[in-house]
Amino acid sequence: MRMYDIILKKRNGGSLSKEEIEYFVEGYTNNRIPDYQVSVLLMSIYFKGMNTDETVSLTDSMMKSGDVIDLSGIDGIVVDKHSTGGVGDTTTLILAPLVASCDVAVAKMSGRGLGHTGGTIDKLESIKGFNAEISMETFIDNANRIKIALAGQTGKLAPADKKLYALRDVTATVDQLSLIASSIMSKKLASGSDAILLDVKVGSGAFMKTPDEAFELARIMVDIGNGMGKDTKALITDMEQPLGRAVGNAIEVKEAIRVLQGKSKGELLEVCLALGSELLVMAGKTENIKDACRLLEKNIENGRAYEKFLEFVIAQGGDREMVLNPEKLPQGRFVTELKSGERKYVKAIDGMEVGNCALVLGAGRDTKDSQIDLGAGIYIHKKVGEKIEKGEVIASLFGNDVKKLEAAASRLENAFSYDEKPVEKRKLIYGIAS
Ligand code: URA
Ligand code: CA
Repeated sequence: MRMYDIILKKRNGGSLSKEEIEYFVEGYTNNRIPDYQVSVLLMSIYFKGMNTDETVSLTDSMMKSGDVIDLSGIDGIVVDKHSTGGVGDTTTLILAPLVASCDVAVAKMSGRGLGHTGGTIDKLESIKGFNAEISMETFIDNANRIKIALAGQTGKLAPADKKLYALRDVTATVDQLSLIASSIMSKKLASGSDAILLDVKVGSGAFMKTPDEAFELARIMVDIGNGMGKDTKALITDMEQPLGRAVGNAIEVKEAIRVLQGKSKGELLEVCLALGSELLVMAGKTENIKDACRLLEKNIENGRAYEKFLEFVIAQGGDREMVLNPEKLPQGRFVTELKSGERKYVKAIDGMEVGNCALVLGAGRDTKDSQIDLGAGIYIHKKVGEKIEKGEVIASLFGNDVKKLEAAASRLENAFSYDEKPVEKRKLIYGIAS
């Protein structure tokens, strides 16, 4: 087989065979095929697309390029949730203990990654002592004993994807649905859960800007997952504004604790209940969504969900005092507030721009080696549809660097737009693909 022929075939609009896809994925991962040839192949795929068989083959080849985790040692059905990414998306911190409190095992590999804020693991590491580098043995043991374990990606999950994603990033070939779907699914399928629930975000703060695109991506990923023998579903949810009120690391942990304690309602809780209900049904815990939702709500009211979070943090070495007293979590020394000069309503919040402000404050990584400031972040007091009285605070910014705080605050002003008249709340859940 020759790479030249594979490129030519795709350039001319042909469909690649499983063997051809395996050949280029394997050859690229092992440095036998150069960047320039894979670059033009990716660009040809960008223009000519891939059919379902090709997308499944690509996913399979990337999945098999590294470790495929075996979680069969965990009792019952192991469920996993994956979000395609957004701003103020604190769902995993809430959903994992909430579902585990219903006796359904959550064993999740989570990323750190580049982004406006850290990933789930970075956020948890704002709790002193929290350790995500647990052994496979501890991971499985915790999942059996307390139904919850979260680890930074252990071993080499889908190294082919890592290499291809980095190349796509610099060749303007990230935003192709088959490439995105196979990239995400190769990692999910390698991480070993029995059932996969995808949360496909749509809106200004997400990858997918329109519902049509989001549904199409969801459809492709669900078909890949089910085609490869894993029960897979996707919810399509709104990311036109940040999901929760907190955007950062420690600040998101604080918000998660409040939601788990039943002290904070709103969009973040609603999305967690919707995702959690699907997960309980997928795990065979309840017959239908309604019963599942009731069980989740009950476990927030009776304190079980919060206790599960505490138990989980302690099991992974975290300081219980910081969960019991969240004011002990890191918080920037300086605060700046955005205030309103008049009475008005929030019409829209540009999620991506809020994320960029958090990044300016130091809450995320610019490059893979940058240090995260765990105490930096933004709290949004007023979300879309909410009324602001004259002089009320719209958002607070926390940080440790006054210059950065000033820069972020003036930028954050522009992320908000207003109306004098009441504004409708946004639709939160667009639908499901299964
Ligand atoms: N997230 C991924 O993991 N891969 C993509 O291609 C896009 C988003
Ligand atoms: Ca099992």
